Amino acid sequence: MSERTLVLLKPDAVRRGLVGEILSRYEAKGLSIEATWFGQIDAATSDAHYAEHVERDFYPPLRTFVTSGPMMALVLSGESAIDVVRLLNGATDGRVAAPGTIRGDLSLSNRENLVHGSDSPESATREIGLWFPDLV
Ligand code: CMP
Repeated sequence: MSERTLVLLKPDAVRRGLVGEILSRYEAKGLSIEATWFGQIDAATSDAHYAEHVERDFYPPLRTFVTSGPMMALVLSGESAIDVVRLLNGATDGRVAAPGTIRGDLSLSNRENLVHGSDSPESATREIGLWFPDLV
């Protein structure tokens, strides 16, 4: 079933010049770019995006990181796009993510892990509504 997912190319991806490399992987897989946004978010937007994590110990440094510079938000669509993006992204912690995945090939960090992808259809709907209110 064709579906949409929300992807973030986090500030480390922009700083390290990996935007093209990462977009190429999604495009080569056959996913379509439906919408893009580029800019720097504030703490309130970070809190809204990561609402389920705001009470976690790892969240304050994560918020500092995701507000530290510009990033790219994308809506990608395609067959099973939510699961396909999560497979391409790899495990959260770049140190243990499988080689061949974006994080496994390009990240050595549990926090600065380059990308975010919606983890379920419910998350995708909520996150797309937050980042791209005109699209829903
Ligand atoms: P993401 O897929 O955007 O979802 C939540 C983010 O929190 C995750 O990627 C990482 O950037 C970060 N994260 C999750 N767990 C940890 C952790 N234990 N330590 C530091 N950062 C984490």
